[in-house]
Amino acid sequence: MTDPNRVLIFDTTLRDGEQSPGATMSHTEKLDIAEMLDEMGVDIIEAGFPIASEGDFTAVSEIAKRSRNSAICGLARAQFPDIDRCWEAVKHARRPRIHTFIGTSPLHRAIPNLDMDQMAERIQQTVTHARNLCDDVQWSPMDATRTEHDYLCRVVEIAIRCGARTINIPDTVGYTAPQESAKLIRMLIERVPGADEVIFSTHCHNDLGMATANSLAAVEGGARQIECTINGLGERAGNTALEEVVMALKVRHDIMPFTTGIDTTKIMALSRRVSQASGFVVQPNKAVVGKNAFLHESGIHQDGVLKNVETFEIMKPTDIGLNEANIAMGKHSGRAALRAKLRELGYELGDNQLKDVFVRFKALADRKKEVYDDDLVALVQDAATNTEDDYLQVKHLRVVCGSDGQSADLVMLVGGEEKTVHSSGDGPVDACFKAVKSIWPHNAHLQLYQVHAVTEGTDAQATVTVRMEEEGRIATGQASDTDTILASVKAYVGALNRLKARRDMIGQGGDAKQVSMYSH
Ligand code: KIV
Ligand code: ZN
Repeated sequence: MTDPNRVLIFDTTLRDGEQSPGATMSHTEKLDIAEMLDEMGVDIIEAGFPIASEGDFTAVSEIAKRSRNSAICGLARAQFPDIDRCWEAVKHARRPRIHTFIGTSPLHRAIPNLDMDQMAERIQQTVTHARNLCDDVQWSPMDATRTEHDYLCRVVEIAIRCGARTINIPDTVGYTAPQESAKLIRMLIERVPGADEVIFSTHCHNDLGMATANSLAAVEGGARQIECTINGLGERAGNTALEEVVMALKVRHDIMPFTTGIDTTKIMALSRRVSQASGFVVQPNKAVVGKNAFLHESGIHQDGVLKNVETFEIMKPTDIGLNEANIAMGKHSGRAALRAKLRELGYELGDNQLKDVFVRFKALADRKKEVYDDDLVALVQDAATNTEDDYLQVKHLRVVCGSDGQSADLVMLVGGEEKTVHSSGDGPVDACFKAVKSIWPHNAHLQLYQVHAVTEGTDAQATVTVRMEEEGRIATGQASDTDTILASVKAYVGALNRLKARRDMIGQGGDAKQVSMYSH
């Protein structure tokens, strides 16, 4: 890097983000998201944890093969088999990177039961091993912000001496604060021999809501790589949100004179894609990408914005790829217009996909007065649910509800075989879910059932998210329709399809997330 103020963006949506319980993404979704991240200008994509499962390994390998500009990184614990497996997956990339880590704080040292000297030796051996395989090695002392400073300096020095090019400083439990975050990086740069030859990176979790502030403070302290995820996805309260740090650096360039290589107009499309793939709905008041981030409801605000947008807006919707004119199309719009509109929204569809979305668009336009951008996004995202490829497929649903009781008549395909059932329940959704359960008996528990309106009005589409748990595995399903009950059933069946796919994977000897990050 020649520009001393250039900050590298390291996206870990597909690794740390996907680690969030229930956020498991399919292979195709991961490839899609990686392609979008690459196009957006992300410098490094952490594509997964290859030793964790066959699925992770295959996804990282495929992403590596398809990568164009971004470096592709895989995660590995401080163990030779992990590092070898990681290299096998990332070696196909134009720019491969191995990221190896070990917990260095007193609490984390106790897990593998290593004393300080033994851990130092393990770091020396594993970083050297990784460096013998790959030119680009990143090393992380997990829980760095709760590690004794003298010991942190000692192990960082070892990693640098053994050839790590990037030293990532994780705030694993979201414990640090901005002043401390800047000071820690400054301290390492000042004290560790060889520090000026590597890039320091920051990796923050959001347990106290300070991840973005801590990451920016680390940059002030000398870090030149930020690790982050789209929508701040990640375990517990999540990771630093990519859109927040990138937009903060852009909007407040006057006081933070740093640059990134991100094309910010791609932010919104990625946010939508990640939300749909992970099943994690973006909260309406989420900074930058929330539905309300550019809405001005109160009279005073509207008046101000109409006179001069800068009165209440510090960035333009178009900066993040949001269209200003949100009225989309009507029932007379043709396929070419739909393709152009979707392209504007960040979706480049193949001919078959477009054909399918067009049919759904026409059906929606018949039922709904105005079709907005958000409706179109929901249509595209929904095109992947309840398809012919799914083992469980909803074919027909008829619901009776009201004061005389609720019941459902459901027709489903189970592995191609048609099944019909009548069920009653405590409310229409309960009746439908019971009908599904009698067609496809299962032990999965419903953890979350969430409905939100895509747009305004009583004819709006509803997006329903359903999260299910079965034997510790969690899967999410999402579907949209103007019929909330139908969307609910499709989302429920979508989650069951995902659980089945994961059960089948175990049967074939591979499972997502069988390996613990903490067993070193
Ligand atoms: O939070 C953390 O410490 C991590 C490491 C593996 C970098 O995700
Ligand atoms: Zn993390």
